[in-house]
Amino acid sequence: MIKSTHRYVCQECGSHHPRWSGRCDSCGSWNSVIEEMGISYTSRRSKKNTTRENTALLAPLSGDTDWSPRTPTKIAEFDRVVGGGLVSSSVVLIGGDPGIGKSTILLQVVAQLSNRMKCIYITGEEAPDQIRVRAKRLKVGDSPAFLVSATNMRDILPIFRSGAEQKLIVIDSIQTIYNDDLDAAPGTVSQVRATAHELIAAAKTSGAILLLVGHVTKEGNIAGPRVLEHMVDTVLYFEGERNHQFRILRSVKNRYGPTNEIGVFEMTETGLSQVINPSTLFLGERRSNVVGTCVFGGMEGSRPLLVEIQALIASSPFGTPRRAVIGWDTNRLAMVIAVLEARCKISLSEKDIFLNVAGGLKINEPAADLAVAGALLSSLNNIPGPSSCVFCGEIGLSAEIRPVNQLDRRLKEATKLGFTEAITPPGKILNGVSTGMKVNQISDLNMLVKIFEKKNAH
Ligand code: TYD
Ligand code: MG
Repeated sequence: MIKSTHRYVCQECGSHHPRWSGRCDSCGSWNSVIEEMGISYTSRRSKKNTTRENTALLAPLSGDTDWSPRTPTKIAEFDRVVGGGLVSSSVVLIGGDPGIGKSTILLQVVAQLSNRMKCIYITGEEAPDQIRVRAKRLKVGDSPAFLVSATNMRDILPIFRSGAEQKLIVIDSIQTIYNDDLDAAPGTVSQVRATAHELIAAAKTSGAILLLVGHVTKEGNIAGPRVLEHMVDTVLYFEGERNHQFRILRSVKNRYGPTNEIGVFEMTETGLSQVINPSTLFLGERRSNVVGTCVFGGMEGSRPLLVEIQALIASSPFGTPRRAVIGWDTNRLAMVIAVLEARCKISLSEKDIFLNVAGGLKINEPAADLAVAGALLSSLNNIPGPSSCVFCGEIGLSAEIRPVNQLDRRLKEATKLGFTEAITPPGKILNGVSTGMKVNQISDLNMLVKIFEKKNAH
């Protein structure tokens, strides 16, 4: 028997509470607990369990598999992020801020694949005509894909079952879909969890590729609890600054491929176009010999990526100096500042410090420490860093410079872009970088301080 239940669910973390409260005890967020009506299957389940025999089969690990191959979308940057192509029966969740381009990229994927499989775009947010107009704008208006305007699970589930051909189904977005067995409003944790569960089960049994759009909360997580990310096979985030042209598609979970790969796109008049060599884009507007900038030789997944780090140090008019960071970790900056102060005797405590990763990219590699320290020293001493020089290295708490992974690939990319000098941690440089690049290996942060002082003395 299905029993109706009242419950109080936190919309941030999904935890249940016996009564309403202004603050969730589990995750500490305020005003996130709302009343939801749910259904409980417990009595039905317990009755069934008493008569049912255990039917789980033990399968040998070495058995044959009908592993389905990947279908590349032929949008190379998208394929790179999903690990080479879309796998049948797999579920991909794409999150991102409103207006970042989720619907656009999915429409482009649908258009690319519609000649090879049946592609169905289920929209709960926009009218089919709006999608048609967008498709025309993307110059894919005549591709043989199908549009469905639906939000009720009863209308959506039969689409998975109809026909035996390989299907690709896009749901834009999971927050608009609802199951009318539940009294909760669309977009609430219970609805998102229940509908996602049913959709994923339908994709697994029918072999369809399912692409789900997920909205993000103001904290930047996909709305609905983290549980949604656990349920799907692949989670992609679309990032980027609104006022920058380019967008980054990042994989944060992938059961069928590597994570932390990024795909770089540029939003143009006719949709998202791929950026094949992103380093050129991120360094495109760079002027050489500018005070307070250093180029970081980074890695994003399997791809080397050069970005400019900018720092500005100014005397603080207030008692508590400001520390503003865009595109990097604030705690990491605090650590670099603390090491400069404690180990290199550089006083920054009365200065405002601003740090920016040019171009709106977000980086989270500790290997950027050295470039950040370089940019800070350059701004502090008011001298430009060594021109045509790329920095990479992690700074330890005792000011030692620690090795970074894949140094040879980072330096190769820098050489390709015309850099002639590098400041790196000590260690053997692997093959392939003896292409005329002057590599200055430093083992201690004080050596970097000296480089900037020496330039100052000239
Ligand atoms: P959209 O895909 O609707 O975003 P989301 O689904 O993530 O909310 O992207 C909409 C934005 O992209 C909108 O601000 C307009 C812009 N855009 C272009 O600049 N060029 C285009 O060809 C398209 C389709 C959209
Ligand atoms: Mg959209």
